[in-house]
Amino acid sequence: MEISRKIEDSYVSLFGKNSDIIIKAPGRINIIGEHTDYNNGFVMPSAIDKAIYFSIGKRADSKVCISAIDLNCYFEAEDINDLTNKPNDWSNHLVGVILEIRKLGLAFENGINVCFGGDIPNGAGLSSSAAVEAGIGFGLNEIFELNLSLLQLAKIAQATEHNYVGVKCGIMDMYASLFSRKNHVIRLDCESLEHDYIPADFKEHTFILVNSAVKHNLADTQYNVRRNQCQTGVESLNKKFGNIRTLRDVNLEQLEQLKTDIDPITYKRCKYILDEKERVMLASKALDNHDFKKLGEIMNLTHEGLSTMYEVSCSELDFLATEALKIDNVLGSRMMGGGFGGCTLNLIKKEAEVDFKEKISLAYQLKFGIKPEIYTANLSEGVHKIS
Ligand code: GLA
Repeated sequence: MEISRKIEDSYVSLFGKNSDIIIKAPGRINIIGEHTDYNNGFVMPSAIDKAIYFSIGKRADSKVCISAIDLNCYFEAEDINDLTNKPNDWSNHLVGVILEIRKLGLAFENGINVCFGGDIPNGAGLSSSAAVEAGIGFGLNEIFELNLSLLQLAKIAQATEHNYVGVKCGIMDMYASLFSRKNHVIRLDCESLEHDYIPADFKEHTFILVNSAVKHNLADTQYNVRRNQCQTGVESLNKKFGNIRTLRDVNLEQLEQLKTDIDPITYKRCKYILDEKERVMLASKALDNHDFKKLGEIMNLTHEGLSTMYEVSCSELDFLATEALKIDNVLGSRMMGGGFGGCTLNLIKKEAEVDFKEKISLAYQLKFGIKPEIYTANLSEGVHKIS
C-alpha cells in the first residue's frame, strides 16, 4: 500500500473522518559542501524519493493530537496556542514548529489532528528530522493560510532544531526539503540564502546511497562541538585581520598566517572548511561541464577531509568509501551529512549498479556482519500537497 494511504487510513481510524490535507516532505542527499552551510558557504543538495507523509486536519476545539505512526507514539495537548515542549521528546520536531510560528506573533484559530510517518530511514543522514519540521510547517501554513514563505518555513524548521532539539544545524536540510525541484540539484549560497537549480543531467551516471546502519545522533555527538570549533577559529582570525564574520570571509593565506597562533584542532577544522569551500566551486563547475571523473575525484577528497581533518567519519563509513573505490566504474565515494554514521554517497556508472550493490554489500557484511540497505538517489520535488 502507498505510504500516504496508510497514514490517511490511520488518521481516519483515529479521528473518525478524513484529514483536510496530505503533505509529502522529502529527505535529501548532498552532492558536495559538507559542514559548509553553518560556515556560510555553498551546498549542493537535492530532495530524494524518500519522504515523510502527513495527514493533517483542523479540530473544532483547540487541542493538538499527533500520532507518530512509525514510532507508535502519541502526543496530546490542550491548547495549540499555549504549548510547552517536553525535553528530549520526539514531539519537539512538531511542537517546536508550532512554538516558532507563535513567536512570529501568529495564533491558530483551531487545534489540529496529525498522523505522520514515512520511509526515510531514521538516523541515516537523509534528514528525516528536517522533513518532519518542513512538512508540518508547510501543512500548517496551508490549512491556516499563514502566508509564510518557503524561506520562512526553512528558518522555522532550523530554529526548531536549535531551540527544541538541541542541534545547532545549518539550513541545508530543511532548505533542500522545501525548495527542491524534480531532477535538479540546488546550488545554495548559505550566506545570501539564494539558490539556483542545476539540471541533474548525470548522463550515464547515477548516485547510490549505502546505509552503514550506524545511527548518528547529532545532538549526542560532536556536531555542536564542530560548530564551536569553527567559531573559535573565526574569532582568532577576526582579531588578527578584522571584518571576518564567518569562515566564508577567510582565505587560505590568512589561515596559514595564523597557523602557529591557534591550536592544531582549530586549525584542522578551519582548513577542512576552506578546502571544502574550494571543492564545492570546483565540483559545481565539473557538474556544469558534465565532467564526472572530476566530480568523483572531488568527492573522494571531501571524504578524506571529513575523515582526517574534520574528524566526523567512523570506521564503517571509511571502510565503505575505501571499498567502493575498489569496484569497477565507481567514480567517487564519500560519507554524507553530519557524520558519525549514516550513508555514503557513491557516484557510479549506471551500467555498474547491480555489480556495485552486490559487491559493496558483500564486503560490508564480511567486515561488519551487517547487510547494508542500498538506495538509488532519485532527485525529487520538495515539500508539496498531495491532496
Ligand atoms: C547535518 C546538518 C546540516 C549540515 C550537515 C553537514 O545534516 O543538519 O545543516 O551541516 O549535517 O553538511
